[in-house]
Amino acid sequence: MKLASEKGAALSDSVAVLDLPRFLTREHHRIHLVGVAGSGMSGLAALLIELGHVVSGSDKVSTMETDRLQRLGLRFDEQHLPEHAGATELVVFSSAIKTNNPVLVRARDLAKPIARRAEALAALMRAKRGIVVAGMHGKTTTSAMTAHVLREGGLHPSHYVGAEIPILGTNAHWDARGKWFVAEGDESDGTLALFNPEHTLVLNVEEEHLDFYADLAAIEKVFARLIEQTNGTVFYNIDDASTARLCATRKKRISFGFSDTADYRGADVDLHAFHSNFCVYSRGEKLGELVLNVPGQHNVHNAIGVVALATELGIAFDKIANSLRRFEHARRRFEIKYASERFLLVDDYAHHPTEIRATLKTARAVGRKRVLTMFQPHRYSRTKALCKEFAGAFENADRIVVTDVYPASEASIPGVSGQTIVDEIVRHGHRGANYQPQFERVHWDIGNALDVGDLVLSLGAGNIHEQLSILAADLVIAEQLKAIVGETGKVRLYEPLSKHTTLRVGGPAQFWVEPQTEKAFAELIRFCRDENLPLFVMGRGSNLLIRDGGLRGVVVHPCGGDFDKIEINGCEITAGVGAKLREVAYAGKTAGIGGLEWMEGIPGAVGGGLRMNAGAMGAQTFENVVRVRYLDATGEAHTKTRDELEVHYRNFPLLEKNFAVSAVFRGSPAPLEEIMRKLEASQEKRRTSQPAAKSAGCIFKNPDSSPAGKLIDELGLKNLQVGKARVSEVHGNFIVNDGGATAAEMLELIDRIKATARAKRGIELETEVQIVGEPA
Ligand code: EPU
Repeated sequence: MKLASEKGAALSDSVAVLDLPRFLTREHHRIHLVGVAGSGMSGLAALLIELGHVVSGSDKVSTMETDRLQRLGLRFDEQHLPEHAGATELVVFSSAIKTNNPVLVRARDLAKPIARRAEALAALMRAKRGIVVAGMHGKTTTSAMTAHVLREGGLHPSHYVGAEIPILGTNAHWDARGKWFVAEGDESDGTLALFNPEHTLVLNVEEEHLDFYADLAAIEKVFARLIEQTNGTVFYNIDDASTARLCATRKKRISFGFSDTADYRGADVDLHAFHSNFCVYSRGEKLGELVLNVPGQHNVHNAIGVVALATELGIAFDKIANSLRRFEHARRRFEIKYASERFLLVDDYAHHPTEIRATLKTARAVGRKRVLTMFQPHRYSRTKALCKEFAGAFENADRIVVTDVYPASEASIPGVSGQTIVDEIVRHGHRGANYQPQFERVHWDIGNALDVGDLVLSLGAGNIHEQLSILAADLVIAEQLKAIVGETGKVRLYEPLSKHTTLRVGGPAQFWVEPQTEKAFAELIRFCRDENLPLFVMGRGSNLLIRDGGLRGVVVHPCGGDFDKIEINGCEITAGVGAKLREVAYAGKTAGIGGLEWMEGIPGAVGGGLRMNAGAMGAQTFENVVRVRYLDATGEAHTKTRDELEVHYRNFPLLEKNFAVSAVFRGSPAPLEEIMRKLEASQEKRRTSQPAAKSAGCIFKNPDSSPAGKLIDELGLKNLQVGKARVSEVHGNFIVNDGGATAAEMLELIDRIKATARAKRGIELETEVQIVGEPA
């Protein structure tokens, strides 16, 4: 047996004294797996448990897979400890494990047998008739398809596949009844050369894993070795130049593909959104027609190889056809995460340019309006080596958000990031790509761009599917909200609130909802209560400072429809909460109603004016309010008159837990010239004493002793700056956004002002602006 070694570093050769196939398949032992959470290692653990061994494993992370294995009997430890080696008879390690791992170090000291994952797998295979599925792309799906067809064909195969396979139940299974063992061969670390299978299915060979291989020639060498070590037949893709060349001289070979010379030839391919129809000829003779229950031309190609293999093993065509009709994808292979007529969300493992191209072609063929993509590059070495190839792989995507690189076990390479790929895509002439270095914000970017008819695709071998899953879960809620607000109402995911605040600051709203009717608003309140979702109402955002992490839950923006209405009745003006206070003042002017002119100077809407009991020119909202209509926490409507309401300076407590719908304001008849004069006075006051730049109005409430603006001015804090947030030179109680300021900068500036007022004057300034939301 080979010396167990990892990337040139010599380990113990004591495994050489073991008859590993016998040790693993005919005896029962204590075996420890180092790096057991990995997709390959967990499959091996499952096989060893089924074979009756006492299996333990260590990993720095626990996963759903390790949880499942623990239920089957795995003794799992979430750290690597030297004592794991002491208690075991064999240590098996993943290629992601470093030579200085404490379990390996102790095992070497104790001269325990140590084997690489692929060595153990190859030994298991020797106890059966092995079939290895190898190639750069498509091997998980193809090995799963092979195991499925053999199983449906009654051959009771054992299998080992590198991903969760719902149709097979698990990623690995040992079936004592059958003779065959189907395994996905991993070319990434050269261990493919350890196998001596009966048959091999070669899908494609091209440049990949350049962290391990010097070049294509080095990769081909490993494949050539596997081909040479295959005792029976090599089934190979004749349409792939490298594969065809490698297999050309072999005696027992059977080719498959679309080319005329293929032994098993596919034809008449008809691609559909979720399946494909095609037929297969064997050496010129039509075998029959097939329906493959997964989409994509590349999957048809690989299925022809499976048909060739299964036919040669003696499975009847009808049985093969039936199995392919029922085949289901492996997890993360064009996996549908959300599907409706309006939206389709799909996750795929593609991470090599060839795979991305094939998956995007399949996505495009689904026939939705646009394809939006979130892509997480996998490994720095691949990103660097193939960045040019990536550039052209996204032609079928309308929009691409690229995250930073998922390192796998690699150290970063200076100058290589998601931006590297975006730069290449842009250079290639695509205008819809951007880099999002904050991984947890990727779903914001794609979700906010989402429109009816879109297909969203997450691509990558790391954890990008988590971002798609968050989007899918939120989309379910967004669609329920849409049903509530109806055709005329609007729902947007992750709407940037900086667009909706006068300060132009703030992260996104998880759900941004614009109902048009009181009925829809009431239903939204009930929905949020039932679903335990926070609900925040936002008008024109003039008195708001929203933190950079945005608002979780539903943000209701009552505007349009019922909410913008202004009606005049005698000296009373009824206005919806979405109407601007300024519009109420001007409606008064038109109807000859005076006393409302001060409202001209307030940038907010009626709802905000009520909530804050906003004021200007010495007047305040509730001096003019006669009635308020609101919805309570159960969505029930009420109307209350002024004398029933408790109101304070810049505060109307009723709206802490209830939601205003409209208010009736009363003025008094006045001559037009007088109204005009007062309106102009308000405008003049604004123009001369307040900044025109982006702001949230006055930041602090006026303390009893002195107006806040005057105090800040006297303290010499005007123009004090944190980043792009600055105290206005025009009015001390305004902080202005010089362009692109963050909430964090605003808050720091507020804190500095408060600290100075406290230290120098003993005054505790209290913010008037409402500060809400999550930190970034
Ligand atoms: N002052 C200074 N330096 C400054 C700013 C003001 O010395 O940098 C002095 C002014 O000269 C004046 C006094 O401070 O003698 C008060 O200033 P101002 O007349 O501008 O009124 P304010 O109390 O600062 C209030 C409202 C404003 C409203 C104006 C105009 C509050 C907290 N602010 O400001 O409302 O527009 O009156 O009527 O009550 C808002 O609520 O967001 C808002 C801007």
